[in-house]
Amino acid sequence: MASGKVSPYNADVVSRNATYLENLAQMPWDGFHESTKTTGEKTRALPELWSQKAKFDELAQRLQSETAKLGQVARAKDEAGVKQQYAAVGKVCGACHEGFRQK
Ligand code: HEC
Repeated sequence: MASGKVSPYNADVVSRNATYLENLAQMPWDGFHESTKTTGEKTRALPELWSQKAKFDELAQRLQSETAKLGQVARAKDEAGVKQQYAAVGKVCGACHEGFRQK
């Protein structure tokens, strides 16, 4: 990638990594617990995370459903589907960082 050369699409690697992502997307959310508001941890989470927690939770849920779809198309070795779904996943990352994470 850094060399500017584009590697050929490797459906097995993409399938494996999409499955990792699908599973990892379920993990972070327990860490965003109300009790961490006052622990003084260094964080880039914005206060809106707490004042609009339902919206945050909805985006967390959406990430899980979009990464699950990515896993499905990747395991089906559907390259075009993967490209499309990868963009959909990226949008959810961006949408949440936009509203809930400091730049
Ligand atoms: C539901 C909201 C939400 C979604 C969806 C989300 N993030 Fe985040 N992300 C955050 C918040 C909030 C932080 C800041 C956490 C902190 O500093 O305590 C963060 C931090 C990060 C960081 C910085 C970690 C660090 O230790 O500095 C990375 C990298 C990141 N996110 C990547 C992603 C990627 C990639 C995706 C999509 C696959 C994603 N995030 C989806 C809310 C989200």
